[in-house]
Order: sequence, then structure tokens, then C-alpha cells
Amino acid sequence: MKTSIVRVELSGRSYDIYIASGASELAAAAAKDRLQAKNPVAFVSEENIWGKFVSFDNPEFLSCPKIVVENGEGAKRIGNFERVCRELAAAKIDRSGAIFAVGGGVVGDLAGFCAASYMRGIDFYQVPTTLLAMVDSSVGGKTAVNIPEGKNLVGAFYQPKAVFIDVNFLKTLPPREFAAGMAEVVKYGLLGDKNFFELIENLQNPLSASHPEICNVIARCCKMKAKIVSADERETSKDGGRALLNLGHTFAHAIENSAGYGNYLHGEAVGIGIMLAARMSARLGMMSEGDVLRIERVLLACDIPVRFREPISVDALIEAGRRDKKAMSGKSRYVLLNGIGCGVVVADIDEVLVREIFETAMC
Ligand SMILES: NC(=O)c1ccc[n+]([C@@H]2O[C@H](COP(=O)([O-])OP(=O)(O)OC[C@H]3O[C@@H](n4cnc5c(N)ncnc54)[C@H](O)[C@@H]3O)[C@@H](O)[C@H]2O)c1
Repeated sequence: MKTSIVRVELSGRSYDIYIASGASELAAAAAKDRLQAKNPVAFVSEENIWGKFVSFDNPEFLSCPKIVVENGEGAKRIGNFERVCRELAAAKIDRSGAIFAVGGGVVGDLAGFCAASYMRGIDFYQVPTTLLAMVDSSVGGKTAVNIPEGKNLVGAFYQPKAVFIDVNFLKTLPPREFAAGMAEVVKYGLLGDKNFFELIENLQNPLSASHPEICNVIARCCKMKAKIVSADERETSKDGGRALLNLGHTFAHAIENSAGYGNYLHGEAVGIGIMLAARMSARLGMMSEGDVLRIERVLLACDIPVRFREPISVDALIEAGRRDKKAMSGKSRYVLLNGIGCGVVVADIDEVLVREIFETAMC
């Protein structure tokens, strides 16, 4: 198995990301090693995929707890945090135990938060099964659950021990979910690596699970995220740092909120958000109209929407932007582009301009 390894440098908490076709075998080997050392292992997954698209059914794992939550964003609820912790306790998982999170970003965020809290922290491993989780949520140690007052409001920074990215899982991922993950892939090129953007732009065939470039593309995204996270683990940098990963996200959160959660997949809202960030950058003279068109072409080639499907009230979008938890001192911060490959955080954007930019996404 040809495996790419990307290291996330965080002194005592550094870890490796293994990317390969068949990397879930490496995850299984890591779980077996722990069991052989008499350290218990639990798997956390969700009902849409466990036993259908993914399975860790080796005889060695027969006695390991498998905690399978419901499918969808709703699974990131406090009730499931309690359920997972109680099932770990019932299975007598002690401090030497570990959780293997097998699933998309929902499972990874929930299981990671349980691992951060159970017995004040046990080891955990990420085995992402969606493109979004492979290039984004499984790396960097943000874990969280939702409460009625907001998404990801309760969580912890808690790094995994390792991440195993098996691109074979992508073979069963619905195309719409794959495209949503591609929005995050395009984001990396735009915010920090022009050559990487051009690699995506010049692909002969659209990226897919069996595309010869798939492992390389995921590894490049992970490298960039690893570098940003190593430099600014807790998003405290004043001049960009981890906040750059929010390219398109200030717009996206407003879109998801105003259109009603679930109407747009997160990656779809990010795609529209990236387009709006590009238009705003051009409007402020930071980027050429030609580059805006290139970005639009790449997003469309990846089946990522660049406009709203149905009209959304601009007043509602603006109001949602004001409530965004990433807004500082009441002003929304935007990641804009000083050309392709160069993201910058800009505060104090005039609301009149924000309105004008939102209008450009109307269908
Ligand atoms: N922690 C972070 O840094 C971070 C970053 C970005 C997003 N997130 C979080 O990630 C979550 C979204 O993650 P997601 O997009 O992976 O959603 P998800 O986990 O809900 O998965 C999307 C859908 O794909 C299905 N699926 C997963 N793997 C599959 C496979 N191999 N084959 C077929 N179907 C499969 C799932 O059942 C689900 O229906 C959100 O909760 C978001 O807040 C976290």
C-alpha cells in the first residue's frame, strides 16, 4: 500500500495523518496493537454507514463496544455525548482506553468531544469517511456538539493520536456530499497555494474516489491544514493564522442560517461563500475580474453551486451575519483574497458593500 504521511507538529501532541487506498487496515492494526497491550478500544460511528459502507468486523474487535448514533447533524447533541460516555463506562473503558471515530465530520466532532471529556481525556483516532472530514474536520483537533442556542457551542480543542484516511470510503459517498467536500479543497488552493489551485483547475477529469490524483490532493490539503494548525492551534493569531481557514465561511454561516439549516450542505454554502469572497475582493481592488471568473469555472466544474437556488432575503442574511460567533466587536470579519493563493483577514467591511455582494448570488 502506497501511503502518504503528513505530520501535524504540536510538540508533545504531534501526530501523523496516513493517506492511502486501504488506510483503514492501518487503523485496524493500530486498534489491534492497543488491544494486545490490554488497552481497551471502542468504535463510534453512525447508522447510515456502519455495517453498510464501513466495518471493523475482525474477530479481534468482537468484544469492543460499537456505539452507533443516528445519521445527520442532529447526532451532534448533548444527549449523544451522555450516551457515548455512559456506554464507555458500562463497557468499563478506563483511562488506557481509546475511541476510534469512524464517519464524517458529525461522528468525528461528537466522538472527539467524548474522548476529550471522558475520564478527563482518553486517546482517540480519526477514521474519516467523507471528503469534507478527510480534508478538514478530522485534522486540527476542533471537537464539538451543538446546543439549541447554536452549532458547535460546546466543545474542546483535543488532538487525535492519528488520522487514517482511506480514500476507498469515497467510492460510496453520494456525489452531492463529494462536491460539498470539494468546496473545502478549492478553498485551500485559494487561501494559500496558487499552484494547488491550478492543479485542480487543470485536472483532465473531475476528481473522484478512483482519480489518480485523489491521494495527492487530500495530502496537499492536510499539509496545508497541518501547517496552519501547528502555527495557530487555538485560532488566536492576530494576522490570519487558523482564521484563514474560514474563507467563504462568514458568508456561508449567514446562508445556512437564513435558508434554514439543511437546505444547503455546509460545503455548498461554503462554495457560494467563496464566490462572494472573490467578488468582494475584486470590488475592493484586491483581485482581477479574470480571477473571479477562473474561481467560478473551477467551482462549477466541481458541481459546487455559486448562486442561491431560491431567493433569500438580504436583510435576513445581514442579520445572520451580525449574529455570527466569528464576528468581533459587532463587525463581521471576512477572509478575502489578495489574488489567487493569498488569503487575508479583513475586518470593518461596510454593510452596504456586504448587501451589494449578497445580491450578486441571487438566482
Ligand atoms: N472539527 C472541525 O474542524 C470541523 C470542520 C468542518 C466541519 N466540521 C463539522 O463536520 C460536520 C459535517 O461533516 P460531513 O460533511 O462529513 O457530514 P456527515 O458526517 O453528516 O456526513 C455526510 C453524509 O455522508 C454520509 N456518509 C459518510 N461517509 C460515507 C461513505 N463513505 N459512504 C456513503 N455515505 C457516507 C453520512 O451518513 C451523512 O449522511 C458538521 O457538523 C461540521 O460542523 C467540523
